[in-house]
Amino acid sequence: PPYSVGYFIGSLSTASINRQLAGALVKIAPAELHMREIPIGNLPLYNYDFDEDYPQSARELKRSIADVDAVLFVTPEYNRSIPGALKNAIDWASRPWGQNSFTNKPSAVIGGSIGAIGTAVAQQNLRSVLSFCNSPQMNAPEAYLQITPGLIAEDGTITNDGTRQFLTDWMQDFYQFITRVLTVLPRS
Ligand code: FNR
Repeated sequence: PPYSVGYFIGSLSTASINRQLAGALVKIAPAELHMREIPIGNLPLYNYDFDEDYPQSARELKRSIADVDAVLFVTPEYNRSIPGALKNAIDWASRPWGQNSFTNKPSAVIGGSIGAIGTAVAQQNLRSVLSFCNSPQMNAPEAYLQITPGLIAEDGTITNDGTRQFLTDWMQDFYQFITRVLTVLPRS
């Protein structure tokens, strides 16, 4: 069946290589996955004073997550963790207490770095956060990408055959993972 997937881009930079990666993943996604970005750039910094009355941007964030079958995190690694902007968005979505948007929402994490570690450490950090948020995560396959100049063309084509095949299979695995999770935990 078709599923909607909301993807978060952890970087706010205009030239973000993770934005390029997200574009490439949209291109190679199985036809059953309807991909749409969930933007995080307009959120104020979370604190629980807002719990009484969420601002419009945070309401839209929670609405966007509620509207999709699954979420995908495409994130850089900043100082061996995820960027603060992404953590802030997750904190917003996880609250007010008792209204955590990630409960039972299937997720996957992926990311690209200019360095060889390929966001491995950031992804491990993000997995801890998503575990606490009770999101069923695709554990395997993992995907750690070193994004070298030219690997992703301007139109989103992945120029390396092996990488393109690997990521195509990875998106197919994500589709199958979503199918399995939603069989056990259908959306209410
Ligand atoms: C980085 N970068 C980086 N790379 C990495 O592999 N591990 C790391 O811990 C860090 N730390 C880090 C901190 C900060 C503040 C910046 C700005 C950058 C380099 C990073 O991989 C590179 O800037 C990417 O281009 C970031 O991804 P986006 O923003 O282009 O998608």
